[in-house]
Amino acid sequence: MGRVTVAVAVGAAVVACAVAGVLFGRRVRSRRKWRSVVGVLRELEESCETPVGRLRQVVDAMAVEMHAGLASEGGSKLKMLLTFVDHLPTGSEVGTYYALDLGGTNLRVVRVQLGGRSSSILSKDVELLPIPQHLMTSTSEDLFDFIATTLKQFVEKEENNSEFSSLRTRELGFTFSFPVKQLSIRSGILIRWTKGFAIDDMVGREVVECLQAGLARNGLDMQVAVLVNDTVGTLALGHYHDADTVAAVIIGTGTNASYLERSDAIIKCQGLLTTSGGMVVNMEWGNFWSSHLPRTSYDIDLDGESPNPNDQGFEKMISGLYLGDIVRRVILRMSQESDIFGPLSPSLLVPFILHTPFVSKMHEDDSPDLQEVARILKEKLEIPEVPLKVRKLVVRICDVVTRRAARLAAAGIVGILKKIGRDGTGGISSIRGRSDIKMRRTVVAIEGGLYTSYTMFREYLHEALNEILGEDIAQHVILKATEDGSGVGAAIIAASYSSYTVDSVQLL
Ligand code: BGC
Repeated sequence: MGRVTVAVAVGAAVVACAVAGVLFGRRVRSRRKWRSVVGVLRELEESCETPVGRLRQVVDAMAVEMHAGLASEGGSKLKMLLTFVDHLPTGSEVGTYYALDLGGTNLRVVRVQLGGRSSSILSKDVELLPIPQHLMTSTSEDLFDFIATTLKQFVEKEENNSEFSSLRTRELGFTFSFPVKQLSIRSGILIRWTKGFAIDDMVGREVVECLQAGLARNGLDMQVAVLVNDTVGTLALGHYHDADTVAAVIIGTGTNASYLERSDAIIKCQGLLTTSGGMVVNMEWGNFWSSHLPRTSYDIDLDGESPNPNDQGFEKMISGLYLGDIVRRVILRMSQESDIFGPLSPSLLVPFILHTPFVSKMHEDDSPDLQEVARILKEKLEIPEVPLKVRKLVVRICDVVTRRAARLAAAGIVGILKKIGRDGTGGISSIRGRSDIKMRRTVVAIEGGLYTSYTMFREYLHEALNEILGEDIAQHVILKATEDGSGVGAAIIAASYSSYTVDSVQLL
């Protein structure tokens, strides 16, 4: 072999070694990055764990906080607000009633004609309008002008309705889904905003007055018969169709629950007299807090950067406004620790850019190569094509975050059942799992996009309910999805509390 040939061979070997070295180095680095990302995932999984033992602790904490909130004003983060709804619709309500439903992403205007016999709704018209983003942080006058003009156009479309004359004005149920300290069935003061609304001049003001003033400014003669929370509307519609309905839960943009409580258990209001002996309580469970809740660093950051830090802690782990943002925060952290998502996308830094419906789409993507995940990453987060294993990782993040939310919601529901003695244990002070207690059929009305439109969420919630209660008890607990309950239910309550009937609730 000539010298030249040897030199070429040696040179080639050196180059080959160098290339191999570079490739090896890259592989090692990429393995290290992958390991660090997997570390982030493991940490998330661990801090979101909700074994049944922990869920039972949440159940107990919920029941205890309910007691505390009923015992004294400010006794708990659970406000346990009086609603002045002392009887639920029976199905015998009659006439045409309206409802305005304000509280999430959309404004709903509703008209129902009630048949008066066996829960018959003769007709139902619902119009839905997205609330322009700027109105959520504008002035109360702007917001109520928008509401009044929308309602006016809706009423004007009504065919000649002989029910209404100069002697009988149209009556309206107003669903206002924020924490409100009710003064009566038809008045209440806004305690604070949630779900991204922030109209400062309204906090502390009487909500129905603001609406009536808006209606008057816009020349609409209508009477607000009742002011209700969306969970109360949902409970009313649930009860209208099924008398075993004892509670209602909303899991949508925000989350909350209400239920029928015995008046004598509402200790903070000793003088409460109702003819029925009961009253619907609006729990405002979005603000529930317990050290047993599995909290991650993402929750802490999300809360700290929110307009209402330290408030709505349960809501921020469960509801639609927030789940997408938790997922975004996890992807951001992974992107900062490695380049598996490519160079850091500026979109990942934008709060609330990833809406929860996209989380559900990615989570439920059943295409073999997760095309939907790739599309959403690209279109919403400006993350270009990533390998399949990275897409799988994103699905896993969605799963962990959603599963925790659904299981915590299930624990909240069982907490209510425990408080009212419908969890099969005989109530809060008895020994768990007594087998001699006869379970009554118990219906919980439920609404909100997370439950109705996100199959995996719904399945996880049912699974957890069965785990916590055990199958024997769980078979007596029925979650029933209602449709437009927050609005239609408010119209039905308006019918049963129409100003032609006398209030039966008094405070001594
Ligand atoms: C509000 C509740 C409401 C729930 C569901 C929460 O943010 O505080 O009043 O019922 O969202 O809409």
